[in-house]
Amino acid sequence: MDPRSSRALRCCPCGRRLGLLGTRGAALLRVRPSKASGAGPSDPEAIVERFHPRRPDWYEELYAKVLKKCTRSYEAQVAAYKEKLFSQLTADSKKILELGIGTGPNFKYYASAVDINVTGVDPNKKMEKYAQAAAVAAGLPLTNFSFMRGVVEALPVGDDTMDAVIGTLVLCSVKDIDMALREIKRVLKPGGLFLFIEHVAAPDGSLLRCMQSILDPLQRFVADGCHLTRETGNLISETGFSSVDLNMTVLSSLSHVGPHVYGIARK
Ligand SMILES: C[S@@+](CC[C@H](N)C(=O)[O-])C[C@H]1O[C@@H](n2cnc3c(N)ncnc32)[C@H](O)[C@@H]1O
Repeated sequence: MDPRSSRALRCCPCGRRLGLLGTRGAALLRVRPSKASGAGPSDPEAIVERFHPRRPDWYEELYAKVLKKCTRSYEAQVAAYKEKLFSQLTADSKKILELGIGTGPNFKYYASAVDINVTGVDPNKKMEKYAQAAAVAAGLPLTNFSFMRGVVEALPVGDDTMDAVIGTLVLCSVKDIDMALREIKRVLKPGGLFLFIEHVAAPDGSLLRCMQSILDPLQRFVADGCHLTRETGNLISETGFSSVDLNMTVLSSLSHVGPHVYGIARK
């Protein structure tokens, strides 16, 4: 498949109608707060609450189900990009952290590698069973996968511990993207890789960008905090990685969600 000949996104993972309903509740897993993030309270539950207040159970379940069901056509469009991207993981990429892992659509691209250990971080605990099923289907034993309730802004793992960090369609949703990028760099080992695919703002002055600016507040409200106008590619480039291979593509000429950036940053 030629990645650039993709058809319109019919059901963008960030574009469906799901209301942003905050509520209070207890986080389920203990997470170790990052010292580097300056995330504030040392209570791990409070940290997750600060960046991603817990939604009602029914909402989290619904979001997970919708994400699982509606991403099929998107995944088909993006498959060629993912194959190319994940093929750049090396034999040394043993300890892998996946950000906002969701239902685990990326496992099939890397989980069959020998002796890898994957940690998936996501504030929505209802994603866990989908991610586990995707891991097993892709050949990753559950003993080699752990799901942690957490947020990118305060990753529950130590400094310089990860060979690779993976993030697809997650930096559009985090509350504090600068903090999130600092955290990604913090947890990577020197030489470690950050693989990403994200939708970003259309070029300044374009009609699409104007539309995105108008729709952004609505998008955030209906799509679980997703921003349309983030310049994520530029922000990754400015994070201080030793190298950044950044590419841009348009997956859909009709959708207001895009273009997309994808690539690899090395610490
Ligand atoms: C659009 S989905 C993408 C899921 C998956 N990465 C994929 O490619 O299908 C965004 C995911 O990010 C998670 N998320 C939202 N805010 C987050 C945060 N601050 N830190 C980590 N994950 C977050 C959501 O719960 C959701 O699973």
